[in-house]
Amino acid sequence: MLRTHTCGELTLKNAGQEVTLSGWVHKNREMGGLTFVDLRDRYGITQLVFDANKDKELGEKAAKLGREFVIKASGKVVERSSKNAKITTGEIEIIVTSFEILNASKTPPFTLDENTDGGEELRMKYRYLDLRREPIKNNLLNRHKVAKAVREYLDSKGFADIETPFLIKSTPEGARDFIVPSRVNQGEFYALPQSPQTFKQILMVAGFDRYYQIVRCFRDEDLRADRQPEFTQIDCEMAFVEQEDILQMFEGMVKHVFKSVRNIEMGNFPRMTYADAMKYYGNDKPDTRFGMLIHDITSAVKGKGFKVLDDAETVGCISVPNASEYSRSQTDELIEFVKRPQIGAKGLIYVKYGADGSLKSSVDKFYTPEDLKKWADAAEAKPGDLILVVSGPAAITRRALCELRLEMGTRLGLRSKSVYNPLWVIDFPLLEEDKEAGRWNACHHPFTSWKKEDEHFFETGELGKIRANAYDLVINGVEVGGGSIRIHDRKNQEKMFNTLGLSKEEVELKFAFILNAFEYGAPPHGGLAFGLDRFASMTIANEENIREFIAFPKNNAGRDMMMDSPSTIDAAQLKELGIKIEVK
Ligand code: AMO
Repeated sequence: MLRTHTCGELTLKNAGQEVTLSGWVHKNREMGGLTFVDLRDRYGITQLVFDANKDKELGEKAAKLGREFVIKASGKVVERSSKNAKITTGEIEIIVTSFEILNASKTPPFTLDENTDGGEELRMKYRYLDLRREPIKNNLLNRHKVAKAVREYLDSKGFADIETPFLIKSTPEGARDFIVPSRVNQGEFYALPQSPQTFKQILMVAGFDRYYQIVRCFRDEDLRADRQPEFTQIDCEMAFVEQEDILQMFEGMVKHVFKSVRNIEMGNFPRMTYADAMKYYGNDKPDTRFGMLIHDITSAVKGKGFKVLDDAETVGCISVPNASEYSRSQTDELIEFVKRPQIGAKGLIYVKYGADGSLKSSVDKFYTPEDLKKWADAAEAKPGDLILVVSGPAAITRRALCELRLEMGTRLGLRSKSVYNPLWVIDFPLLEEDKEAGRWNACHHPFTSWKKEDEHFFETGELGKIRANAYDLVINGVEVGGGSIRIHDRKNQEKMFNTLGLSKEEVELKFAFILNAFEYGAPPHGGLAFGLDRFASMTIANEENIREFIAFPKNNAGRDMMMDSPSTIDAAQLKELGIKIEVK
């Protein structure tokens, strides 16, 4: 028998028992003829004691055990003299009478402690070692709990888990496709799904009514902390529903998951329109853990002869509480922050609204304290605030203020990890203009329906004003999910494709299957998808970076560092696929 117990379960209750444990040597230290080994497995750490004074050979062999050796050890459970209250097995140790090395190990290239000395690339190359570390191991085990709670909830609501194919035709979600060549049909290619969107809609046409799938999706897009080229969705669809039904159902799911994984009771989720989110927070995924809302003060600042503001399309600001005493170097730092290329603002003007009611600005030459009071009123600022003003084109100003707000929120400690603020963002626009390409794109995806009351904007050509029946779930500024009520008839779907500038031939080539399906009794339907990686990382750790919650993630360049992929394939394989590659 390789083990009678795990390394995480023995306590004083087991004192006196003869046991056998197997695991990895986490630490090994010698003290006066005694060798202490911390033996580790998935369940915990147990201290083993080898006494060279009693058994010289055993003691000497134990002293030589290297880190990460796999051993099996047998002995007696005894009470420890110096107890470790931090671990469940901290009151006992095992006096080992015999042991066996099951496998040796090279010295790991980084320490496997909670705070490792290994850099990210090294950790990804030796991912199997990194996964032995307590925090990463716990992340994955907790991710399992999230997925399990999701399944429990959806099962209890009658959702059926139905698999959809991976080798498909492109599904438009706005990213590039990963392509798979077909050997049997040379010169033809499959696309890996960016999501199972069209399949789940077809399942509704087929009458399944409530579908879900925890499913891998593939998107060839620029990577960030919260984006991976392959990621997992909790993909859901329901028939005979309106937006309200979906919001209720999935608010229930999020509450259930938080309760069962974190024992956190969430209240009802507030809702905010996309228009308000953009206006007050500068983006469509507001972090509502703190205020510091954006105010448009364009009309309050114009007409005093200061060209920068007089000529600006928009002037906006945020009021930072208790920061009116900021030093020159602190304000300079903020100016540099908004001028970074990622943000792109030309500069920053500030107004110090002293606790005594005084008003001083970086543009005092042009504005009197009375003028500045008007700014402060428009900004709803209070004495003691530092008002940060950005001007310029609307989009850049909004982005700068959004980033500045988040940065100030972080600096002032207002983005607490122990607070969870979920938010439904609703009433997204249906379409967004790509001025460069001279066309309109779907904001969510082209299967999203629009609000009946905005239908007339199609006729007037004011496409940007059409609101969609689309919604996102945001938690603390992270978009964890999104979906929509779908178009379910051929006429409207064709109208949408037409608005997106697709020719009849293109539509026929790419989407005939779904248009045909809509002619055979498609029920009204809608749904959404959560990003499981993001949902899990938020639920478990209130953390945006998803890599630590994925067993085998890719690096920033989309590479699997452990397998070293992507990689070239041999000439014979290429030939078989009918692919010619020009070598530069
Ligand atoms: P959407 O494109 O908004 O919607 O995706 C849904 C959710 O998936 C997550 N997500 C990602 N997570 C990690 N890495 C990525 N590259 C990535 N891309 C998206 C996000 C996002 O909210 N078919 C629609 C859903 C629907 O309409 O039902 C869809 O895929 O958390």
